[in-house]
Amino acid sequence: MQANQWAEAIAAGDAVRGTTSPNPPVGCALYSPSGEVIATGATSPVGGPHAEINALRAAGEKARGAHAVVTLEPCNHQGRTGPCSHALEQAGIAKLTYFTADPNPAAADGADYLRARGVDVEFLPRPVEALQPWLTSVREQRVSVTAKFAATVDGFTAAVDGTSKWITGPAARDFVHEDRETRDAIVVGTGTVLADDPSLTARYPDGSLRKRQPVRVVVGKRKVPEGHLSTLGFVQYPNPEEAMAQLWEQGMRDVLVEGGATLLTSFFELGVVDRIQAYVAPMLLGQGRPIVETALAGTIRDAHRYSLTGVRTLGNDVLIEMER
Ligand SMILES: NC(=O)c1ccc[n+]([C@@H]2O[C@H](COP(=O)([O-])OP(=O)(O)OC[C@H]3O[C@@H](n4cnc5c(N)ncnc54)[C@H](OP(=O)(O)O)[C@@H]3O)[C@@H](O)[C@H]2O)c1
Repeated sequence: MQANQWAEAIAAGDAVRGTTSPNPPVGCALYSPSGEVIATGATSPVGGPHAEINALRAAGEKARGAHAVVTLEPCNHQGRTGPCSHALEQAGIAKLTYFTADPNPAAADGADYLRARGVDVEFLPRPVEALQPWLTSVREQRVSVTAKFAATVDGFTAAVDGTSKWITGPAARDFVHEDRETRDAIVVGTGTVLADDPSLTARYPDGSLRKRQPVRVVVGKRKVPEGHLSTLGFVQYPNPEEAMAQLWEQGMRDVLVEGGATLLTSFFELGVVDRIQAYVAPMLLGQGRPIVETALAGTIRDAHRYSLTGVRTLGNDVLIEMER
């Protein structure tokens, strides 16, 4: 398989990240027998049609005989919308390719349903980045947590005097804003709010607000002073457990925890950090606030281990991404 094959289906899903929870950001593309894109579709916000239905509607009659490529197995159950498997069959789809099996037993079997009705069904296992937080949330039955920090190459997130602006440069900070737009919520501790008065918005390089803003969440009991985080409002929970439970209840699935060290330490100790985004700057402090403030393991064997999923150069800094 070529690396960019079925790129339209992947791109359709990527484009709706941050808008679909508690549903997954699925992408679908319909191709003619000669391989031209007929239509694409992606998951609508909750209550709206799934990706396949949006693609079928956009294609109309041209869907007959087409090859449907979907990032997640089509659902086979009557939820808020009808089963996508039935809609694909009725539209006369000739071939189905999907990259991820549906982990939800109530919705699974869409592929079997279509295979039994003569559709040529192909399962091409392939990691779809946009779906990973949702898949984790279904498996763990809690919000998926990505811990994000900017650190010096010697592992500090703030200097001895508490200053941390700026460890990373403009390219890395722009990328953080792009990433925030794809999340359901961003979470910080009261310590960070009091020390930095951050805006915690997703902005363009010119400072204007991006179209979508994640919910801003503050963890801790201290009162946030009047005027802090004032632009868009925020919610506050007394501790990480309560924050995770409430965000899950509200239908959020993909949460970015941005620090500081006390809060990151709590999330690591709870064992709920599924992914890490380490923005590393070529800078040393020698002393300062570490990333995690306690021993997570007394011996190497017990270390919290992650697998590398990506490395990206952002100006003078490096983003290292990993998952549990
Ligand atoms: N480089 C980076 O990526 C980065 C990112 C963010 C912040 N920073 C820096 O980090 C510093 C702030 O970090 P910080 O460690 O002082 O503060 P923090 O982690 O932002 O917030 C700590 C507060 O969070 C609440 N909290 C955390 N864990 C909790 C738990 N398990 N149960 C209940 N409450 C909990 C507590 O609030 P209450 O005391 O109110 O109850 C605690 O005092 C600043 O210097 C900032 O510039 C750096």
